[in-house]
Amino acid sequence: MEKRSISFSPPDITEFEIAEVAKALRSGWITTGPRTKLLERRLAAYIDTGNANIDCTTEENIEKYSGKVVCLNSATAAEELNLRVLGIKEGDEVIVPAYTYTATASAAIHCGASVKFIDIQRDGDETTHCPEMDYEALEKAINPKTKAVVLVDLAGIVCDYDKVFEIVERKKNLFSPMESDETSLSDLSSKIQKGLGRVAVVADCAHSLGAKRVVNVTGAGRLSAPAMRYTGRIADFSSFSFHAVKNFTTAEGGAATWCLPESVYNQGVSDGELYRFYQLLSLHGQNKDALAKTKAGAWEYDIIGSWYKCNMTDVAASIGLVQLDRYPSLLFCRETIIKTYDEACDELGIEHLNHHVEGMDSSNHLYLIRIPGVSEETRNKLIEKLSESGVATNVHYKPLPMMTAYRNSSNGIESYPNSYDYYHNLISLPLHTLLSDDDVKYVIETLRAVIRELDLC
Ligand SMILES: Cc1ncc(COP(=O)(O)O)c(C=O)c1O
Repeated sequence: MEKRSISFSPPDITEFEIAEVAKALRSGWITTGPRTKLLERRLAAYIDTGNANIDCTTEENIEKYSGKVVCLNSATAAEELNLRVLGIKEGDEVIVPAYTYTATASAAIHCGASVKFIDIQRDGDETTHCPEMDYEALEKAINPKTKAVVLVDLAGIVCDYDKVFEIVERKKNLFSPMESDETSLSDLSSKIQKGLGRVAVVADCAHSLGAKRVVNVTGAGRLSAPAMRYTGRIADFSSFSFHAVKNFTTAEGGAATWCLPESVYNQGVSDGELYRFYQLLSLHGQNKDALAKTKAGAWEYDIIGSWYKCNMTDVAASIGLVQLDRYPSLLFCRETIIKTYDEACDELGIEHLNHHVEGMDSSNHLYLIRIPGVSEETRNKLIEKLSESGVATNVHYKPLPMMTAYRNSSNGIESYPNSYDYYHNLISLPLHTLLSDDDVKYVIETLRAVIRELDLC
């Protein structure tokens, strides 16, 4: 077999993205402006319907889809703003799975909250094998300080939100909403917490744009019958990543959205007010953005709060507009590669994630495999051997309690045996839309050869 060089997840950028970026650069407006607003509407339409090609320039769709999704400069910013809108602050506790990327936890820490890590289920969810939180442990961990639980749709697989909504409902007697300190943001957060009347369900959908699951309950309440919902329309608050290695990229970028019950709106909260606060929080608390200030005589602005700077630029949004045109075919391409990997792994006796099961279709973001019976050292040797043969792999994730920043506050990895067990023999294979059929075959043949060489499986 001739040696190939297979990258782990290079960005898939065509001449169409390049042309749209050039148009943005030539347009005279390069920071947050019309392209960002159009991307927000198109994303709102996509997560409502699964249709990536709805024309969001018509008057009707401008009205229908404006102000529901907020584009920002990263998923980390989106998660942090979700938590800030929710009023998460010092003295609060946010529950996070031990098995995730640091951003899931650090966003809560930036807000001053403490993070309570929860181990995953042994070997992950029994159907998808995804490293999902141990929901019994979650239920036990909820206490009067708990204000939010963050679920992670790891690899693009949608978590069991129904179960978590049931848990937070059962534990609502422990929840006491914050009181407003009479500032505008705290007023909003207090109304949201009073309207929810329970721990908030927050989704880290960094991997799961376009994934869907049949659910009975969403943030908006119990459905009259089970229905398929796209991520972003399930949890109370959701955040997406458009980082360079993600399925859908704007180089760096992310988005926040919400799906809330009538009881929140009955407190006097409106989508318009929510959207306005995300704008304020992402732009220094300034009550006019740069575009609004260009209107004749409209130079003057106020600063409502000394807040953050994490808006998306129109240059980045222009990449996203083309990526969204292409997104259905990008998802299909990933799914095709997954099918080929699944067949090979089944034949080799290697456990893998199940991205498509009854009632759930993932966004096909990562392909995680676990090599039976190997130690962490042997797994690392396997990764090295694959790399020597030109196949770049990765590990998603080293659990957070193993990281320096979280070791002490989490009591160390010994308290999360299922997370360590899941991680110790895990490898993420390359999964991206620039892989040719021959590349995929090469990855499989190289894996087979290295497994034989090390006498594994
Ligand atoms: C699970 C998870 N959450 C959040 C993030 C943060 O995304 P971003 O880099 O867009 O802030 C990542 C990034 O890899 C992630 O994997």
